[in-house]
Amino acid sequence: MKYFLYVIGGHYGDEAKGKITDILAPHFDVVVRGAGGANAGHTIISGDKKIALHLLPAGVLHKETLGILGAEMMIDTSALENELEEAKKWNPSPKIMISGKANVVMDWHKAFDGAGEKTGQKIGTTKRGIGPAAETKYSRRWAVTMSDVLSKDLDKKIHRIVSELRLRLVEQHDAFSKFRSMKVSEIIDADENSELGKVLKKYADEQTASLKKIEKLFGSLIVEDVGEVVSQEKYKRILGEGAQGTMLDPTFGNLPYTTSTPTTTQGLSRGMQLEPKSKEVVGVFKAYETRVGEGPFPTEIPGRLGEELQKKGGEFGATTGRGRRCGWFNLHEAQFAVRVNGLTWMAITKLDVLDELDEIKVGIKSKGDSVEYKTFKGWKTNTTKCRDFDSLPKEAKEYLLWLEKQLVPLAIVSVGPERKETIFTDSFKKHLSEAGIKL
Ligand code: GDP
Ligand code: IMO
Ligand code: MG
Repeated sequence: MKYFLYVIGGHYGDEAKGKITDILAPHFDVVVRGAGGANAGHTIISGDKKIALHLLPAGVLHKETLGILGAEMMIDTSALENELEEAKKWNPSPKIMISGKANVVMDWHKAFDGAGEKTGQKIGTTKRGIGPAAETKYSRRWAVTMSDVLSKDLDKKIHRIVSELRLRLVEQHDAFSKFRSMKVSEIIDADENSELGKVLKKYADEQTASLKKIEKLFGSLIVEDVGEVVSQEKYKRILGEGAQGTMLDPTFGNLPYTTSTPTTTQGLSRGMQLEPKSKEVVGVFKAYETRVGEGPFPTEIPGRLGEELQKKGGEFGATTGRGRRCGWFNLHEAQFAVRVNGLTWMAITKLDVLDELDEIKVGIKSKGDSVEYKTFKGWKTNTTKCRDFDSLPKEAKEYLLWLEKQLVPLAIVSVGPERKETIFTDSFKKHLSEAGIKL
C-alpha cells in the first residue's frame, strides 16, 4: 500500500509550507512540488542555516529523498541552476527528477510580466514570469516545455516562437525598444534581412544557447511522465508540497489578484501526473493571515497592530522582500480551503507571533465589506519552548481547539521557524505511525 500526504497552503501563501514539508520529508521516499514556479519562496531554517527554496521541493535537502519538479510547474532554468548550488550546501548529492511536461519560463515571459505590471492593471506579481508563461502554455503555440529542451528541433521551435511573438517583443522587451516607432504592418512584414529580422534572430540564437546549456545540466533529470515514477513499487511514501495558497488559485481566488497555476490539491495531483486512490491532506494556516501584493483581504488589520504583527512575524517576502499585509484568521476562507482541497488535517503555524497580544480575533462572517469577529483572550506567554499540545497556555489551547472544531483535526502547531519548534498532536502521530512513520 502506498501512502500519500499532501501539504497545501490554506490562505494566501507563505503559511510555512516549506517548514512543514521539510520536517516530514525525511520520512518519505519522494517529495513532489506540483505547480508554481520561482514566485514561491519556501523558507527552511535549521540551527544557523537558512535556505529559501523557490523551485526545488524541500525533499532535496534530505539525502535519501527523491525530489520531483512536477508537470504544472513553470521552471526558470537559470534560477534552478543557482538554487541547486545553494541546496548542495545542505545535501551535496540531491536526488532530483523534472517532469518533461513542466513549462520553461523564458526571458520574454519575465519581460512581459514586468511590462504588464506597468501598463496593465497592477496585480503586484513577483515578476518571475509566471503569468505570461501560463498565457503561452494555454495559447498552445508558444509553450516551451522541459521536454522541448531535449528535442533536436529546439532551435527551430525557439526561432519560430520568437518570430511569432515579435509584436509583443517590440512593445514590451527592452532589447527591442529601438523598433517601437515602426508600424505594426512593418513589424509583421520584416524579413530576416531587415534590421528587426536580424535582432530577432540574434535573440532567438541566444535563447536557444541558454537552453542548450540547461540540457547539459539537467537533461538527464528530465522524465516525460513522473507519475510513472511515483507509481513504482519501491516508492511507498509520497509527500506533495503545495505552492502558493488556496486563495491565490486562478479559479478559486479573486481575479486578477491570483497566481496563474493551480494551488490546490487538484493542481498537485496534476503536477504529479497521478491521482492517488486515497490521500491525506494537511492544510497549512497561520494563526493569523498574510497577503503579499494587491487584492481584497477582508480581515486585514490596518494601522499599528498590523505593522507590529508584520515586524514580530518577520512578514517580508522570501522571494521579493516585500512587506506582507497582515490580518486576522478568516474562518470563512479556511472552511472554503477545507472544501476545495478535501483537507483531512490542519497545521497552525506562527502561533508564537501572537504570544504578546491581549486579544486575538477571528473573522467569522462577512457582510458586504464589513466582517464580524469573534474575540479570544490572549495568552501573554512565550510558547516557543512548548513541545507538546498540553504544555501550551490554556488560552492558546482554547483558540486552537475552537479552530479545530470549525475545521478539521489539528495535526501540527508551529511555535517558531526552527525545525525543532514544532508540536505534533497525539492523533497525528498515531495516524503517521499507522502509515509506518515514526517521528
Ligand atoms: P511558505 O511559502 O508557505 O513555505 O512560507 P514562507 O517560508 O514564505 O514564510 C514563512 C516564514 O515564517 C518563514 O520565514 C519561516 O522561517 C517562518 N516561520 C515558519 N514557521 C514559523 C513559526 O511557527 N513561527 C515563526 N515565528 N516563524 C515561522
Ligand atoms: P509561496 O509558495 C505569497 C502572489 C503575488 C501576487 C500574486 C500573483 O511562497 O506561498 P505571480 O508572480 O504568481 O503572478 O503573482 O500571487 N504570490 C504569492 N504570495 N506566497 C507565494 O508563494 C506566492 N506566489 C505568488 O504576491 O499577489
Ligand atoms: Mg513563501
